[in-house]
Amino acid sequence: MEKNRGKKKPFGVNTLLTHSGNDPHDYYGFINPPVVHASTVLFPDAQTMATRNQKYTYGTRGTPTSDALAQAIDALEGSAGTVLVPSGLAAVTVPLLAFLSAGDHALFVDSIYNPTRHFADTMLTRLGVEVEYYDPCLGAGIADLMRPNTKVVFTESPGSNTFEMQDIPAIVAKAHEAGAVVMMDNTWATPLYFRPLDHGVDISIHAATKYPSGHSDVLLGTVSANERCWKTLLDGHGALGMCVGPDDAYQILRGLRTMGVRLDAHQKSALAIARWLETQPGVTAVLHPALESHPGHAIWKRDFTGASGIFSIVLDGGDKKKAHAFLNALEIFGLGYSWGGYESLAVHVSLADRTVSKADYGGPVIRLQIGLEDTDDLIGDLQNGLAAATAAG
Ligand SMILES: Cc1ncc(COP(=O)(O)O)c(C=O)c1O
Repeated sequence: MEKNRGKKKPFGVNTLLTHSGNDPHDYYGFINPPVVHASTVLFPDAQTMATRNQKYTYGTRGTPTSDALAQAIDALEGSAGTVLVPSGLAAVTVPLLAFLSAGDHALFVDSIYNPTRHFADTMLTRLGVEVEYYDPCLGAGIADLMRPNTKVVFTESPGSNTFEMQDIPAIVAKAHEAGAVVMMDNTWATPLYFRPLDHGVDISIHAATKYPSGHSDVLLGTVSANERCWKTLLDGHGALGMCVGPDDAYQILRGLRTMGVRLDAHQKSALAIARWLETQPGVTAVLHPALESHPGHAIWKRDFTGASGIFSIVLDGGDKKKAHAFLNALEIFGLGYSWGGYESLAVHVSLADRTVSKADYGGPVIRLQIGLEDTDDLIGDLQNGLAAATAAG
């Protein structure tokens, strides 16, 4: 989006989504970038080869296709640079490996995506990193947990499955005072509804598998850094030999072009369904930060500009039998884990991994991903689920 340089009003996010990444005139005017399948890159002569003095040098270090996606993500995140990795989980593990060493201490929010916890508890611990979890509602209280060797504060807001909101600016201020790098898994909001780097976060992590893909068919992750952290991230990414296939990068860029309108539809339908669920007798709580009833609503309203399509409900008591009756009665909602696609999904979540923020919700917690189906049809489906849950006791 070079053409916006020097203009007073920056382009809106849908304009950025539509035009960021490649310049069509770099490739004969074709609107989409070429899908470059590459390992070897040739050099014109020995001198250039010896100095590696050309834009592309080896397939793992970037191609016109991966650059197009990384540049589009930079435009959305406001980042100095973005690396692409093969999954959202790799987007979590790569920066942690790039920034942490044996003897360091790292703080993780307790409402973290479970495979992030698994990585921290197994590989990071084995490599000599001291891992500690903190309450998602801690805010500036994180200062009490900082140690001289705390190198990373890892955040995810809202939290996985229970959607606690973190006070990111307060956490950033205390973490930076103590010299730590702040990372955020921002998959829920996407950079359309929250730009972590604008709020002081150093590393923004996105499972592009979700909304950027949008079609439940591609796995990919992006990690974007501010100027201060970019070189360390890029070096770590290169050292690990991380790269993504060109077809996947192309598909994610393709997904970005429509992500704004898709997210808008997810947001509207999810909020309408969440409000309807709040009125249902079989539901004791709806865990959606854009609802006024949510304990983190004030933070969401202050910092975020929108809400995506995934939230949870709590059924009024009962156990696994009731949760399964609810899920088995659903016809439109599929039973599956990944989210951000066009189709609705439901899952009975386990909170057994929590160590600090152990809350008893008083009934099964069901996570719902609201897809692009007609809202009334989804409400009808949930009505059947709630009736079956009530019948199961
Ligand atoms: C918050 C969050 N971060 C990261 C991931 C990992 O993404 P992927 O499935 O691409 O590994 C997920 C997947 O569900 C997620 O929910």
